[in-house]
Amino acid sequence: MDATDMGDSLQDVLVTAEQMDQRLDELAAQIDGDYAGREVLLVGVLRGAVMVMADLSRKLHTPLQMDWMAVSSYGSGTKSSGVVRILKDLDQDVTDRHVLIVEDIIDSGLTLSWLRANLLSRGAASVEIATALRKPKAVKVAVDVKYVGFEIPDEFVVGYGLDYDEQYRHLPFIGTLAPHVYEN
Ligand code: IMP
Ligand code: MG
Repeated sequence: MDATDMGDSLQDVLVTAEQMDQRLDELAAQIDGDYAGREVLLVGVLRGAVMVMADLSRKLHTPLQMDWMAVSSYGSGTKSSGVVRILKDLDQDVTDRHVLIVEDIIDSGLTLSWLRANLLSRGAASVEIATALRKPKAVKVAVDVKYVGFEIPDEFVVGYGLDYDEQYRHLPFIGTLAPHVYEN
């Protein structure tokens, strides 16, 4: 999928595929440095984190394992419900593991602060967070995010794993949608 498939549904491109790729190179180098001599368990949050998980993990030299969780946060609209529910739990035991949560975007930060507390309560040795995108609201939440790809404005975005009503996840860049898309 690319911009031409979007027609007049695309409003702006906020982060290009090239920009994301370069930024993930930088984050991967940082993560490799921070986890030197340790093994990391990457925990991807389904489904939005699929793209960043695939790209970031392949840039890492640190020995790693991958696991996935699915939690509910958004419905088909554009507002956070504030309710976190585990839809799919980890397959692996996180006891004494160094966990790095991989997220697509942090908006309210509700999902993340809940998830970090949850994994720590299961006995993880450490829990850090890597996210492709972060919105301004999240900065106010007391959840320390070690690796942030891009700080973006408080707008609803799609692409690079992020959806609107399950669409546009396979758009290679981060973009905003034209207002008429939401009116349907
Ligand atoms: P939070 O709990 O408010 O931080 O929301 C986190 C989740 O909401 C993310 O992992 C996304 O799945 C979803 N989300 C937040 N903002 C957007 C957006 O702009 N576009 C698409 N999904 C979003
Ligand atoms: Mg998500």
